[in-house]
Parts: sequence; C-alpha cells; structure tokens
Amino acid sequence: MIFGTAGLTAMLCVMALEDAKVKEGGRVIVTGAAGGVGSVSVKLLAQRGYHVTALTGRREQHDFLRSLGARDFVDRSEYQEAGKPLQSERWDGAVDTVGGTVLANVLASTAYGGAVAACGPAGGMDLPTTVAPFILRGVSLVGVDSVNCPGSRRIVAWERLARDLAAQDLATLATEVSLEEVMALGEQILNGQVRGRTIVKVADQTS
Ligand SMILES: NC(=O)c1ccc[n+]([C@@H]2O[C@H](COP(=O)([O-])OP(=O)(O)OC[C@H]3O[C@@H](n4cnc5c(N)ncnc54)[C@H](OP(=O)(O)O)[C@@H]3O)[C@@H](O)[C@H]2O)c1
Repeated sequence: MIFGTAGLTAMLCVMALEDAKVKEGGRVIVTGAAGGVGSVSVKLLAQRGYHVTALTGRREQHDFLRSLGARDFVDRSEYQEAGKPLQSERWDGAVDTVGGTVLANVLASTAYGGAVAACGPAGGMDLPTTVAPFILRGVSLVGVDSVNCPGSRRIVAWERLARDLAAQDLATLATEVSLEEVMALGEQILNGQVRGRTIVKVADQTS
C-alpha cells in the first residue's frame, strides 16, 4: 500500500520518459517533489542514473529528497510566476505533478527534443503555455493517467516497482498513522504539508 496509486503513477511517468527517449543520465526535474508521486519519481529516476532536480515549496524537505537521490533543488516560487515562452534549456525531461504556471515554466525550460510527463494538477488545472516549446524545440508533453491505463502497461509498471524498490526504500518514503488521525491528515494534505506516502493502519494487529 505504500506504493498506492501514487507509486504506480510515478512509474508510469518514468516509463513515459523512457518511451520518449530521454537520454540516459539526462537532467530531469520533478515538481511537487516532496509529495507522493513526486517522491517516488525522484527515487526511481535517481536509481536509473538521471540527474534529478527536485522542485519543492518546502525547504525543510531538502534532506528527505536528497536521501531519495535528488541532486539539485529549485524553489517552487521560482516557477510560480509567468515566465518567457522559451527559457534557457535546463531539463532533458520532467515529471510534473503540479500543472499551472509551474508546468508552463518547465515546458519553456525543457531542452531541444526533451519530454515532460504530466500527471497532476496539485497547483492548478490550467496550463498557461504557448506552442513555442513544441514547435521550436520539439518538446513533447506526455499525459499520464493511472486509472484507464491499459492493464498490460499497468502490469509492467507494477512488476518494475516490485523489482526496483527495496523494502528499506519504502520505509523511507512512508509515514504510518492511525485511523483516528485521518481527519487531521486530510487537513495536512489540503495544506500541502504531507511528505511522501502515508499509510493508515486500519486495525490493531494485536487485537
Ligand atoms: N494522473 C493520474 O493518474 C494521477 C494519479 C495519482 C495522483 N494524481 C494527481 O497528481 C497530483 C500529485 O499527487 P500526490 O499523491 O503526489 O499528491 P500529494 O502527496 O498531496 O503531493 C502534492 C505535492 O504538490 C505540491 N503542491 C501542493 N500544492 C501546490 C501548489 N498550490 N502549487 C504547487 N505545488 C503544490 C507539494 O509538493 P512540494 O511541497 O514538494 O512543493 C505537494 O506535496 C495530485 O494532484 C493528484 O490528484 C494523478
């Protein structure tokens, strides 16, 4: 359950970047990095040898993200204001869980031929971009959906998750709470304060 939908989605994003031929060892940015999809993506991408940059609004999570393999950081505020349609080419690939202006800035700073896997609207459903990254740099924007994704692709993703992430990696990614703590947890999720994945212990195994 530590993987959950977030883990599956993270692996589908990694597979989307591989399908788009993002070069081995390339520079990949992950947005919403300290969240569920983001943190699993950071781990999976770093493990595959990509140079991972974590975009996060929470400085206090840098050590956590570094422990997962992030090598550099971008503060969320840097990408929250509308930027130029084309910016300096910083990324060969991206996993975006945030949408909105952050995604627009990621697209504008993706290098020639790069690819962005977009799976989440944590920062907004809009996408205030231009066609410039697509028609002048050949950037690909790849949508990732875990719900109606074909079963055959989901099986590949789950098999890779099971093979690639060790039990100790899962422990690092997750926090356990009791059923009584769930309402307070909901507030924290809405306030963007939850880190990685949260497991709800629904029953006391000793009883
Ligand atoms: N396409 C699919 O099939 C699929 C599957 C699962 C999830 N999702 C979607 O993907 C998104 C991420 O899921 P999750 O499970 O990782 O959620 P999560 O654990 O709540 O993490 C979301 C992260 O986004 C960042 N964030 C929150 N509010 C923001 C804002 N206003 N502006 C910019 N960044 C913000 C925060 O990261 P930092 O603190 O590090 O900045 C937060 O930790 C959600 O919107 C979810 O609905 C889609």
